[in-house]
Amino acid sequence: MIKSKDWIKDLVVYQIYPRSFKDSNNDGIGDIKGIIEKLDYLEYLGINAIWLSPIYKSPMIDNGYDIEDYYAINEEFGTMEDFDNLLSEAKKRNIIIIMDLVLNHTSNKHQWFIEASKSKNNKYSNYYIFKDGKNNKEPNNWGSTFGGSARTYVKERDQYYLHLFAKEQPDLNWSNVEVREEIYKMINFWIDKGVKGFRVDAISYLDKTKEMLDAPYPLNNEGYSPCKAFIAGNETTHNYIKELGNIFNSRNIFSVGECFIQSDEDFKKYVLTESNEFDMAIPFIPPVVEIKNISPNYLKNTFKHRYEILKNGGWRANFLSNHDKPRQISLYGNDSIESGKMLATLLHTLPGTPFVYQGEEIGMTNVYYDSIDEYNDLDTKNYYSYLLKSNKSKEEALKEIHLTSRDNARSPMQWDNSEFSGFSKVKPWLNVNPNYLKINVKSELNNPNSIFNYYKKLISLRKNNDILKYGDLEFIDSSDGTIVYLRKYKEIKWLVVLSFLDKEIDFKIDYKIKKVILENYPLKENKLGSYQALILEIE
Ligand code: GLC
Ligand code: CA
Repeated sequence: MIKSKDWIKDLVVYQIYPRSFKDSNNDGIGDIKGIIEKLDYLEYLGINAIWLSPIYKSPMIDNGYDIEDYYAINEEFGTMEDFDNLLSEAKKRNIIIIMDLVLNHTSNKHQWFIEASKSKNNKYSNYYIFKDGKNNKEPNNWGSTFGGSARTYVKERDQYYLHLFAKEQPDLNWSNVEVREEIYKMINFWIDKGVKGFRVDAISYLDKTKEMLDAPYPLNNEGYSPCKAFIAGNETTHNYIKELGNIFNSRNIFSVGECFIQSDEDFKKYVLTESNEFDMAIPFIPPVVEIKNISPNYLKNTFKHRYEILKNGGWRANFLSNHDKPRQISLYGNDSIESGKMLATLLHTLPGTPFVYQGEEIGMTNVYYDSIDEYNDLDTKNYYSYLLKSNKSKEEALKEIHLTSRDNARSPMQWDNSEFSGFSKVKPWLNVNPNYLKINVKSELNNPNSIFNYYKKLISLRKNNDILKYGDLEFIDSSDGTIVYLRKYKEIKWLVVLSFLDKEIDFKIDYKIKKVILENYPLKENKLGSYQALILEIE
């Protein structure tokens, strides 16, 4: 990392899912003007970077992760002028804008793909990955992330194209240098506009040289293999990422990659300073896997492991939520205020950059829609059909969807207690969580003990105390259901104590406490309360 990039260590990133943040023109869909309206709110919270999930022109099959035109703003979200205003209004408040870059695939409505589908010998024929079939079937067993085959047949070419995600998301051919040049030109276009960072989507699968081999994984019930682990992070892919790194680093741009990490060595390649790839990585773990493993121990080991790997160079992205996951307060907590604050304490006191996902700062919970028809996400719908096919009843399937659905994170932001939660004046594209009457920004702002005000304190604590940014980390053994660690910087020592339990337990703190820096409720001697969180300065 070049020296001047130390500025990234001061970032506190707030992720916005534009469709669900704020609807300014009352069509039921969040938009850029809506974001501008709420910049004062974000400034007041204290964040200094906004990561926008994709706002490019898109048919929205995967809510913008299927890009039709990298140079245009999706009409529902506004215009390029709105975007330029967002950049300048954010800048006035010292907030940088981070765009989502979807580079593994485009939409099937992208002009390149439309042309490529027409014939085997035009300018764009080689922009995607088309292959002949075998015995009138797909060339091999690769399966798509969202279920079914990763190939779709195109009659005009009598060939199959590859899509690791939905069939409307054809994979780009990165071995074609013209494709890479187009992509780099586009990235520079956004940097020239004033974008200061990128979150780079699904970046581990760029190289597909193994593409004609069968992937050696258990086949799904349709006979396809989830091939991502088979190809992720190979050397050629890392070389392509270094080309991206050259742009980001030479132009002093922040970058965080969404990476499918296969090993510690692989993790280091993505983020170690000398490898010239990303500043940070968001390790991709499928929500279903995560939910099955969930325990404080799992969290502790995950953070500990990531810390150890990157201790000597490289920086961490810390997050508990994003648009692909259930709400943290429902997953790791019990939807209570205390659990929301406890999780916030974890997020902001670990070494690395905190990523806050919209709504977590007010304790937004999972949605528990009554019927599958209320859900929108294609992944959720595919998973639901898969569950039914595997002989689950509708009730059982819905119960699983309640836990895992990506729509948990995508329901509209809860601004106040008016109809449709102040998100819009009309029924939004996805139903508001009925608990908006109780959980909303307006009431959080008015309550000094709210989760929001606790986030605000944590953000300012991190800003004003180098120990949280640069201090060492040491995990301390503690009883089941708790996480305890020390941060140490120069002569200062802070102890963080967190309970993931829904009950009070006997608990002894073996250190001399100098001062309580922050607590979600008052410490009792020799006890640790339900979902209690403490930051203590010790001797
Ligand atoms: C990433 C995104 C997810 C999207 C997928 C395909 O995992 O976070 O929302 O569906 O890539 O682009
Ligand atoms: Ca709108």
